[in-house]
Amino acid sequence: MSASSQANGQASAGQLAESLLAFWADGGVDAMLLDEPVDRIAAGRIAPPVRQVAAPQLATSRSAAQPDIAAALEQARLMAAAAADLDALVAAIAAFEGCPLRHEGAASQAVVYRGNPAAPLMVIGEGPGADEDAQGAPFVGRAGKLLDRMLAAAGLTDRVLITNTVFWRPPGNRTPTHSEQAVCAPFLERMVGLVQPKMLLLVGGASAKSLLNRDEGILSLRGRWFEWRSADGSMELPALPTLHPAFLLRQPGAKKRAWSDLLTLTERLDRPDRPL
Ligand code: URA
Repeated sequence: MSASSQANGQASAGQLAESLLAFWADGGVDAMLLDEPVDRIAAGRIAPPVRQVAAPQLATSRSAAQPDIAAALEQARLMAAAAADLDALVAAIAAFEGCPLRHEGAASQAVVYRGNPAAPLMVIGEGPGADEDAQGAPFVGRAGKLLDRMLAAAGLTDRVLITNTVFWRPPGNRTPTHSEQAVCAPFLERMVGLVQPKMLLLVGGASAKSLLNRDEGILSLRGRWFEWRSADGSMELPALPTLHPAFLLRQPGAKKRAWSDLLTLTERLDRPDRPL
């Protein structure tokens, strides 16, 4: 900060640029197409016409490349059931070709889990972002660092295994689709069966809605206990939805609600017999 901006509390140009870059990264803008910016408004040219001609062809060739979801789901069930331990499950996911995200060209590797393989708590987020895709582990970017700080403050650092509803990065960090989550679900359920946690923390709306099969938004679901059930009904666990740390980075004022959710969770984890 310059002396004058420091004096009146204004951000320096460097800080503004950093904050803008972080804002874009949160929104999934993580690559440049050209070295120099192009002012398309000044040039009077908003959308290149050639793209409109190419769009139908793109749609056709994309849908031809999409895997058959019913067949993929059946294959995922078989592969997940055959995994005798977490290492085998990681290998099975890496070998699975049936998730449409693998064919979207954005993800370079499967991102499966990090943390304690015998954790009493499984934290389930939405899906890997750019940092996770690059490093091969979930929640390692800015949102993950905030999640780690919150888990540490709640005394949960070594008591969690962290994963996602899908194991490949949705391009541009869009929300994973129902089909993408559905074909990954048998692997996620097998992970729950192998880890045998006492409860689940569902981070963000895409995770909570998918695992609990609910339509409400996260602001209505968060902080309330639900019963998660596996597809075949053989497993049941208490599950608590909470706000996604990426949302908390954009809305710091909501942190106290996420903190209250974590306290609700640790209370039940440490005193399971106490009435809710
Ligand atoms: N957001 C998620 O939901 N999961 C990750 O792994 C990273 C960011």
